[in-house]
Amino acid sequence: MAVNTNSRMHAGNGLEGISIGPSEICFVDGENGQLIYRGHDAEVLVREHTFDEVAFLLWTGHLPSVDETNELREIVFDNMRKVAAEPATVATLDPNALTMDAVRSAMSVWSMGRKLAEGGTPADAQAALGAIAGSVALLGARRAGVTPGDIQPGDTIARAYLRIMTGAEPTDAQVGALDAYLVLTAEHGMNASTFTGRVIVSTASDIGSGLVGSIGALKGKLHGGAPSHVSSMIDEIGTADNAEPWLRAKIEGGERLMGFGHRVYKTYDPRARALGEVAERLGSDDERLGLARHVEQTALRLLHEYKPDQRLYTNVEYYAAAVLETIELDPGLYTPTFAVSRTAGWTAHMLEQINYPRLIRPQVEYVGPMPEK
Ligand code: ACO
Repeated sequence: MAVNTNSRMHAGNGLEGISIGPSEICFVDGENGQLIYRGHDAEVLVREHTFDEVAFLLWTGHLPSVDETNELREIVFDNMRKVAAEPATVATLDPNALTMDAVRSAMSVWSMGRKLAEGGTPADAQAALGAIAGSVALLGARRAGVTPGDIQPGDTIARAYLRIMTGAEPTDAQVGALDAYLVLTAEHGMNASTFTGRVIVSTASDIGSGLVGSIGALKGKLHGGAPSHVSSMIDEIGTADNAEPWLRAKIEGGERLMGFGHRVYKTYDPRARALGEVAERLGSDDERLGLARHVEQTALRLLHEYKPDQRLYTNVEYYAAAVLETIELDPGLYTPTFAVSRTAGWTAHMLEQINYPRLIRPQVEYVGPMPEK
């Protein structure tokens, strides 16, 4: 059988090290462990600004005035309320379904109802954030069997989200922890789900279709699906004494430790550092956090021992789990909540893609058989 010898240069199977072009949105400095959103250090933003303001920054390139923040909240809240009033969307939020499947379906139905135009507009992005936040909050209320709470004047997105979801008034500590999580996970360069969304809108499709694709990509445990696995890992380990044998058995069995390793960060993930501090500051369960810290130190030591050539450090998902546990969020809603925050980054990238219209269409190196001459 003849073979194709027309081989060309190609990236690794994971496209590592390949740039898809210029972007003004985010710089992930994997060597120095720094995350920059539009010229602002994310570790500073998280101390000084709400997620609402950071979403605006990602979309527009500047931090909003008070009036601009209020206008944005009005649009987002209006769309959060509309979701609850839309029977077709609510029907997809089946409390017994896999949560990411329910959210993906809800956004598909939402975008069908909205008849989105080709490409996308900033108004679509703001509406999409409201729609996904409203959908996940409502899904949470349905899973908990509670009557969803109402949005109140003066709410931030984080506070409204928790009140709808739990039907109760969240504490300031819970709102602060969720807001920090949303800021630190809002954007992260050309990750798999953002790339998926950009590919979709590059075909002159629409933001709704891009979001459905991005949500599907985020679902997997190599990407956004890790934090609930981190919580189960800590549950299974149970005691400090059990950490080392448990972790050794997993590594020797060829399994990956959830919450460790990253394609770009070859040092400690700055988001993990910031979320670790949030968990420390706001954590109500010191014993649990103490165990998480011990498991982390043991895992880092063992990863270094077993894989000395790999630079494996803690990633964002490890302390995301600790923070989301502090808020007492249903673990089934960890990844959907990640989808809410990342909708800000996804849609910022989709809008940027629309401004530099170029179909994303790479090639594959065919190594299969060729017809006989
Ligand atoms: N535990 C154990 N070993 C690991 C881990 C880990 N968490 N991560 C990477 N490795 C090892 C691999 O086994 C491989 O070792 P080998 O060469 O001896 O086989 C080596 O490190 C390189 O692995 P790659 O797969 O090439 O690294 P990649 O860049 O594809 O990995 C990824 C990135 C997918 C995040 C990986 O580190 C992983 O699976 N981590 C666990 C899941 C996780 O925490 N996901 C959340 C990521 S953050 C986010 O997406 C928001």
